[in-house]
Amino acid sequence: MAKILVAGGAGYIGSHTTHYLLNQGHDCVVVDNLVTGYRHNVEPSRLRQIDIQDTPALSDLFAAEKFDAVLHFAASIAVGESTKIPQKYFRNNTGGSFSLIDAMLDSGVNKIVFSSTAAVYGTPAKTPITEDMPFQAESPYGESKVMVEKALQWNAQFAGLNSVCLRYFNACGAEPKANRGEEHIPETHLIPLVLRAATGVGKPVTVFGTDYPTRDGSCERDYIHVMDLASAHALALQHLLDGGSSRQFNCGTGEGFTVLEVIKAVEEATGKKVPHSIGPRRDGDPSTLVADSTRIRTELGWKSTRSALADIVRDALEFEPIRLQRAS
Ligand code: UFG
Repeated sequence: MAKILVAGGAGYIGSHTTHYLLNQGHDCVVVDNLVTGYRHNVEPSRLRQIDIQDTPALSDLFAAEKFDAVLHFAASIAVGESTKIPQKYFRNNTGGSFSLIDAMLDSGVNKIVFSSTAAVYGTPAKTPITEDMPFQAESPYGESKVMVEKALQWNAQFAGLNSVCLRYFNACGAEPKANRGEEHIPETHLIPLVLRAATGVGKPVTVFGTDYPTRDGSCERDYIHVMDLASAHALALQHLLDGGSSRQFNCGTGEGFTVLEVIKAVEEATGKKVPHSIGPRRDGDPSTLVADSTRIRTELGWKSTRSALADIVRDALEFEPIRLQRAS
């Protein structure tokens, strides 16, 4: 079993993946600046409160602990915000990753799993999206991840640093039995907003456009349960530990659901009507983002076991009381 540094392990996807890796028997040390991550997501003995832009602090940690590999989740994630303050994204996401890569190269740790995004593709020329489609980011957020992916490719070629870039589609769901779930502030993601509208905790939902070329006119997305993402990380890690070379993988199920279909699924799960209205399109939303997940299934043997929309909604709903109690 390996000793892993998890950067951003106090956040949403990082904390679910840490939980998964610990259950597999790996040893994890979490580095997080706790700006958007939560202390309650990490066992105190595993947490080091360090900003990944602090290269000397990272180097000290690498010298003190003998890590086999790094999983890197630490990032700012709001596409809309990135168009208002682009430099925040280049500093936190690109600069932070470069600092982490520097510390890894200095200490001789040569395996990293990097959290990339479907946003690297922008508006794709065809759907479902395959990994060989070109980088066409349409936001500073997407570009900040493209820059890291490119740096990782060059470092694989010339510096012996092996990486797996996982391009997430729409991460969602929760692991309520481990007290983990989505706790973004502010929350901008569809499923938690629809759940809160249904249960009366949040405002009615605005559907951002019903004039897209989809089944019902609303945007179509590929929703992946956060624990299926966690298993993708575990497989990517094993690929590197087994001596595998650098690869890029889409993380999605290959099945798309529209915004109106998500609302219907929440109505079925809760037995309540979701108050909603139809609004204008949101800037920067592509009509359809659905992954071709053949590569990760065939090369890593990944399977989605929890990403049926009803299962995602049920788990997110079950986490709501935990979230509400913490927020009160
Ligand atoms: N939507 C609404 N109303 C809302 C919120 C969202 O109609 O109040 C719609 C959006 O227009 C979109 C869909 O619901 O069509 C999903 O929106 P999210 O905000 O939940 O997620 P995005 O697809 O915009 O973004 C997600 C991640 C990004 C990542 C992107 C890659 O949050 O980090 O997928 O595709 F870059």
